[in-house]
Amino acid sequence: VNLSLSLLLSSLSLSLSSRQMTDLLFTEKDLVTSLKDYIQAEERKLEQVKQWAEKLDSLTSIATQDPEGFLGHPVNAFKLMKRLNTEWGDLENLVLKDMSDGFISNLTIQRQHFPSDEDQTGAAKALLRLQDTYQLDTQSISTGDLPGCTLTVEDCFELGRIAYSESDYRHTEVWMAQALKQLDEGEESSVEPVMVLDYLSYSVYQQGELERALDFTRRLLELDPEHQRANGNLKYFEYQLAKQRKAGEDLRYRRSEGAEPEREESEGRKGVKKDNLPEKKKYEQLCRGEGIKMTPRRQSRLFCRYYDNNQHPRYLLGPVKQEDEWDRPYIIRYHDIISEWEIEKVKELAKPRLRRATVHDPQTGQLTTAQYRVSKSAWLTANEHSVVDHINQRIEDLTGLDVQTAEELQVANYGVGGQYEPHFDFGRKDEPDAFKELGTGNRIATWLFYMSDVAAGGATVFPEVGAVVRPIKGTAVFWYNLLPSGEGDYSTRHAACPVLVGNKWVSNKWIHEHGQEFRRRCGLHEMD
Ligand code: OGA
Ligand code: FE2
Repeated sequence: VNLSLSLLLSSLSLSLSSRQMTDLLFTEKDLVTSLKDYIQAEERKLEQVKQWAEKLDSLTSIATQDPEGFLGHPVNAFKLMKRLNTEWGDLENLVLKDMSDGFISNLTIQRQHFPSDEDQTGAAKALLRLQDTYQLDTQSISTGDLPGCTLTVEDCFELGRIAYSESDYRHTEVWMAQALKQLDEGEESSVEPVMVLDYLSYSVYQQGELERALDFTRRLLELDPEHQRANGNLKYFEYQLAKQRKAGEDLRYRRSEGAEPEREESEGRKGVKKDNLPEKKKYEQLCRGEGIKMTPRRQSRLFCRYYDNNQHPRYLLGPVKQEDEWDRPYIIRYHDIISEWEIEKVKELAKPRLRRATVHDPQTGQLTTAQYRVSKSAWLTANEHSVVDHINQRIEDLTGLDVQTAEELQVANYGVGGQYEPHFDFGRKDEPDAFKELGTGNRIATWLFYMSDVAAGGATVFPEVGAVVRPIKGTAVFWYNLLPSGEGDYSTRHAACPVLVGNKWVSNKWIHEHGQEFRRRCGLHEMD
């Protein structure tokens, strides 16, 4: 992971697709060229001004040594008039001449395509998210591994400030501490240590660490004894700390008298604690490759096979490679199921139409963007290119399910930090309108092509059952979201882990209930 950190920072693309990020890199390169042209023009101009000054300098010093003798010569008198009447005017024009036009207009034009404040905040939030999910330490992110790919005090400060504005005090603390460390090590910066200490003391106070909050406040006051808020906080922290110490003494006193110490947790709760981890934590663990719940016994019942779907004519001669990824829920992986050429074609078709993926806001019913789903996606219809048609047909042939009633093929691109937090693909009972427009019932099954390898991160994980499915280019996974009864299968809850390094391309086909009445075969697996 460490090795890849510098990569991570240089390719931090979030709400923007990789294509847009690449364009920005080249835009910036062009701007640097334009800036250098401007500097050259400015230098040429200054050179002219200098020559003028030098000429005039020697001229005037000679003239003023013997003014009468000098002016006694008619040519000199004439030249003085000429200089004063026209040449100084020319010089004025030269000095006033604006050399920056070209550069400024380039900048103005390019600026229209620059990322916004929102993009910058998004990039910072994604970095914090990755830091959490993959447990990266602040020092190695900041000082990186490759020269030239490090964070400055300002960068760390900015990350801390964004965490602070999200009331994320733990990240505020680690990033402000990193900023302070780099300042202490002598890094030049416009960021005042007092500001850093102010954030630091507040964020550790918010995390209940009064003593450290007090230390930071004292350090702040050494630098700026008049700091009003810090002076107020100092008194307040001292008061709180004294109160706490007193409470602590009381407790020790009671304990030594044999009073029952207060229990922090009942035994019962402790026993189930591990499994009761909040879903977010389970998701993050699985993304790191921890906590996969597969026993050797279950593992031994997972197989690979060649599959022709009951001698389907299209697969009789060339059966496909099928691998059991998981047992409950049953997840199948198909290997080499989409070719390099098809992948490139699908990406090419999708690229100009990729838009930030949206989700339904349950309050307003409107489509909005959300931090829990960060990716770009586009829909491809079967009639726009034969490749889409072929892909749809392949899914139908191999699953035996009717794709007539399915949704269009969705193509999704996750940049670094892109993710999709745990969700169900099917609509639950309390959301009967979920797929109303389509009119083909609920999402009975999911087919998911992996159209890229991902250097780090980006797995599909199932937090309910502790399953991890790694993206492998050219493969696809398939699972049923609904039980044969039509009930949603809650064990299929899944998520797309944030991409840590690289770029993730997937393509989804959501197959719907209608049309499968006579097709969903029993006996494919015990769970079906
Ligand atoms: C989805 C989804 C998983 C992935 O788009 O619904 O779950 O790995 N994607 O991209
Ligand atoms: Fe999904």
